[in-house]
Amino acid sequence: MGDAVNILVTGAAGFIGWKVSEFLLESSELIPGKPEKEKLYVVGIDNMNDYYDIRLKEWRLEQLNRYSNFKFHKMDIEDRKSLKELFEEYHFSFIINLAARAGVRYSMENPFVYYTTNVLGNLNLLELSRKFRVKKYVLASTSSLYAGQKMPFKETLPVNEPISPYAASKKSAEVTCYTYHRLYDLDITIVRYFTVYGPAGRPDMSIFRFIYWIDQARPVIIYGDGNQSRDFTYVDDIARGTILGLMPLGFEIINLGGDRPHKLNDVLQMIEEKLGKKARIEHQPFHPADMLATWADITRAKKLLKWRPEIGLEKGVDAAAAWYQKNRIWVKDIRV
Ligand SMILES: NC(=O)c1ccc[n+]([C@@H]2O[C@H](COP(=O)([O-])OP(=O)(O)OC[C@H]3O[C@@H](n4cnc5c(N)ncnc54)[C@H](O)[C@@H]3O)[C@@H](O)[C@H]2O)c1
Repeated sequence: MGDAVNILVTGAAGFIGWKVSEFLLESSELIPGKPEKEKLYVVGIDNMNDYYDIRLKEWRLEQLNRYSNFKFHKMDIEDRKSLKELFEEYHFSFIINLAARAGVRYSMENPFVYYTTNVLGNLNLLELSRKFRVKKYVLASTSSLYAGQKMPFKETLPVNEPISPYAASKKSAEVTCYTYHRLYDLDITIVRYFTVYGPAGRPDMSIFRFIYWIDQARPVIIYGDGNQSRDFTYVDDIARGTILGLMPLGFEIINLGGDRPHKLNDVLQMIEEKLGKKARIEHQPFHPADMLATWADITRAKKLLKWRPEIGLEKGVDAAAAWYQKNRIWVKDIRV
């Protein structure tokens, strides 16, 4: 692919990886500094693991496979040899590393895979990015790192006390990125996402589950009293912010959050109204790896990326529910 710009998106069959890839394919002008004439190829990789129902991942890939300049390789970021061959083939200009084990609660059941993927997988990609002189590397990180800190969460807060193996693995990935920037001058942006939701979202997360459970008149499980709040962020806003993160910045950590926290109970009510059905709530104990509240300070994203969230919760929930209803025929059977 001679004069083309090749960009690698890891975790491309995942919720956010799918949206980021779609945005890149639809509007490559979003990519900071991309010469207009050069053709863009988006190379997606994913190991298609079954942490959640794989039909969702397959559906997302089907959408992406419609684009002739999208190439998919089923590949594990833990597999250094295959990754090296991929880098040799494509000579990527940009890497967006979204592949990860992402569930907070499951990270207590199987911490090892969080480290082999989120830490060692990230290291594999950093090492190849250095060797192949990649222009820019973006890593997805998480608001989970801010547990116990004062809100709204600023990037300058010390985040040295992660309360789940998931958060600890992301912290490790972040500091390894810093080392690669410091030693090899690799240009890296770390984007810390705050509770992302939207169409074809993750079935282990609240908004997807609430829609699914209420629609099917199944009990709605809430951990704790439901008064915990989240700074929900719509997936399109996240995809746009992630792509803006490709601009040259040296080394930066940047929050991407909705900047408007909502209580779970209020979200539930919003979904009840939207679906015209009442939830049958079942409370379970609050989980020790969960946070009571999140809220992003997005001053840095506004300043450096000229980014701000554009889709409010009501509109975003409508879009997520509409997607569910349109795809109900198969989504109703997935494992949640
Ligand atoms: N969704 C959120 O609210 C949220 C919040 C904070 C951070 N993040 C981060 O954003 C990124 C994307 O999350 P998501 O919500 O789209 O999750 P997701 O699980 O839908 O997507 C991750 C994808 O990575 C793939 N993957 C996992 N391990 C892999 C490996 N070893 N090799 C190749 N592929 C692998 C999975 O199959 C999956 O398709 C992750 O890094 C996650 O930690 C997400």
